[in-house]
Amino acid sequence: MTKVLFVCLGNICRSPTAHGVFQTLVDQHKLSDQFLVDSAGTAAWHIGKSPDVRSQKAAKKRSYDLNRLQARQVASSDFEEFDLILAMDESNLRHLQGECPSEHQYKLALFLEYSDCEALAVPDPYYGGVSGFDHVLDLVESASKGLLNALNKDSKKV
Ligand code: 4NP
Repeated sequence: MTKVLFVCLGNICRSPTAHGVFQTLVDQHKLSDQFLVDSAGTAAWHIGKSPDVRSQKAAKKRSYDLNRLQARQVASSDFEEFDLILAMDESNLRHLQGECPSEHQYKLALFLEYSDCEALAVPDPYYGGVSGFDHVLDLVESASKGLLNALNKDSKKV
C-alpha cells in the first residue's frame, strides 16, 4: 500500500482536484487496494468545507466527482503516515519542508515533477476566472498519469 497526500494552501481547489483525479485513475486501473489517497491544506481557513464550487464544476465536466471531499489541514502525523507528500507549488513545498521532521523530508516533492509539462507549479486559481480551474485540471491529469506510471512500474503505462 502506497499512501499519497496532495497538499495546497486551502485544500479547496488544487489538492482536492488532484485527490479526485488520482483516485479516479487508481480506481479505473483496479489499483485501489494498492493506494491510499488523501489531500490537505497548509492553512486552516477552510477546514470542513467541500471543494470550491468552481473546482467541482470544472471536475464534473471531465467526469470527476469531488463533492464528498472535505478540507483539512496538514497534521504533524501526516509526515509519518504518508509515503509521498506532493505540493502544488513552491510555497506549499517550503511550508511542508519547514514542518516536516528531517527523517521524512525525502517524502516531499512538487507534484508536477511527475508531469510531462514544463511548469513545476499548479497556479492558484482561487482569485482568477473559470479558465484557471480548467488549467489546474490539465496539469493535474498529466501529473496523475506520470505519478501512477512512476509508482506502478510493473503495470502497463496509463
Ligand atoms: P487552493 O486555493 O490552495 O488550491 O485550495 C486557495 C483556496 C483558498 C484561498 C487561497 C487559495 N484563500 O485565500 O482562501
